[in-house]
Amino acid sequence: EKVYLNGKIVTADNAKISVFDRGFLFGDGIYEVMVQLENGMFYKKAHLDRLQDNLDKIGIPYNVKEIDDNLDGFLHAAGLEGESCLIYMQVTRGVAPRKHAYPKNVPPSVMMYALPYNLPPINLKNMKAVLEPDFRWHRCDIKSISLLGNIMTNETAMNANTDEAVLVRNGMISEGSHTNIFFVKDGNVITHPANEHILNGISRQIVIKLCRKLEIPVIEKPVAENEIKNMDEAFFTGTTTQVASIAQLGHHVFYENDAIGEVTARLQKAFAELRK
Ligand code: PDD
Repeated sequence: EKVYLNGKIVTADNAKISVFDRGFLFGDGIYEVMVQLENGMFYKKAHLDRLQDNLDKIGIPYNVKEIDDNLDGFLHAAGLEGESCLIYMQVTRGVAPRKHAYPKNVPPSVMMYALPYNLPPINLKNMKAVLEPDFRWHRCDIKSISLLGNIMTNETAMNANTDEAVLVRNGMISEGSHTNIFFVKDGNVITHPANEHILNGISRQIVIKLCRKLEIPVIEKPVAENEIKNMDEAFFTGTTTQVASIAQLGHHVFYENDAIGEVTARLQKAFAELRK
């Protein structure tokens, strides 16, 4: 397995970083996940733009053009040129003596790797999710490598034999531990606005655009936990999830069997077209 680390392509065994890397000590870094399909990278520009935005937000001086310029060469070296694969990228503030203050003139640590990966089928359904308090911080718009809140809540979902944890802040549904969530009510699609309480998913943005194209009204407002029972449909979006129909959320059952809502199915179909 090959890893891109600070401008070099090395084997995973030789991909070593200092224990004083601020990613390791503070979780001081940003990551991205995107996929390459057989017909090309899926929304590469949107993912790299988000990475740049996030680095700018936390003041890591790095231009993602370097990653962009090296991506094809890296995939070639990894034997994944033109193959379906998942690409992980991360940039941390670099190696410096442990002090909270940002170090000056330290080069960021840049890493990426890729692994063969097939997207789930587009008609993913029967997702089950638990509801968990959203005890994360107030900058969930930043795709920080510090994911304790996400992994702790996800673990609750795994222990309950479900697929995802859906997070609730002040009685309102924010997002999943690694997905965005949408609801459908009376033909309207409803999802949390892109503010500091959610990650503005690329898949989320794609689905909103698809709704506009299909003339499905979109309302960007948080749904209250106690309104779930009044919703007609619900689905997750995410790079690794695509558009996945939710059968059960907390105690509320949307579908007893293999059923899927009409709007969710339409959006899955439209999303699948983008993969061609
Ligand atoms: N997770 N919300 C959170 C908290 C996420 O971590 C993710 C993605 C999303 C969906 O974003 P997008 O559509 O851009 O993938 C929403 C990635 C896949 C991960 O952590 O592996």
